[in-house]
Amino acid sequence: MLLTGAAGYIGSHAAVVLSQAGHEVVLLDNFCNSQKSVLERLQKILGKALPCIEADMRDADIVEKVLREYDIDAVIDFAGLKTAGESVANPVLYYANNVQGSISLLQAMQKVGVKTLVFSSSATVDGEPQYLPYDEDHPTKPMNPYGQSKLQVEEILRDLAASDAD
Ligand SMILES: NC(=O)c1ccc[n+]([C@@H]2O[C@H](COP(=O)([O-])OP(=O)(O)OC[C@H]3O[C@@H](n4cnc5c(N)ncnc54)[C@H](O)[C@@H]3O)[C@@H](O)[C@H]2O)c1
Repeated sequence: MLLTGAAGYIGSHAAVVLSQAGHEVVLLDNFCNSQKSVLERLQKILGKALPCIEADMRDADIVEKVLREYDIDAVIDFAGLKTAGESVANPVLYYANNVQGSISLLQAMQKVGVKTLVFSSSATVDGEPQYLPYDEDHPTKPMNPYGQSKLQVEEILRDLAASDAD
């Protein structure tokens, strides 16, 4: 299983739990918002080093190579920028990283034939709550480019799933 954004807050915790549950976990991160020291901490907790590829997810060729080399059958996509205020100040950065990153990942997965993906979206896609708790039927209305970038990926995934129902 490949975890993108694996050195980050959620990805590193997921790596521990999934590895301890017996999954073969491969990590990918460009460390734009995380420290390499996370890898040492993971090794200490797990008693073994997990394979880690330092790469930008927008590089579809590298992602494809990783999928093939490690015989990956499922991906959890945590890689992304996540600061709402920063996304208002620099929307292009957010769309380029978050939307293009997931598109490149999907292109690589399609080439290799990997169809199992969990995307780490955000409740910010929903905007102001019409009711709580939010659920999958809640109307979407992101209030910033970060949330919009997450919603755009959700919509791409919806179209992709509809195009390939197998
Ligand atoms: N933390 C939260 O409360 C929360 C809530 C909702 C959604 N999310 C989403 O979950 C995901 C993980 O969140 P987090 O809190 O662990 O964030 P994080 O910033 O700690 O981790 C994200 C990781 O992705 C990496 N990354 C970013 N862009 C990359 C790229 N182009 N290529 C490779 N690596 C890249 C960063 O270096 C970082 O290690 C994010 O996509 C975020 O939007 C987080």
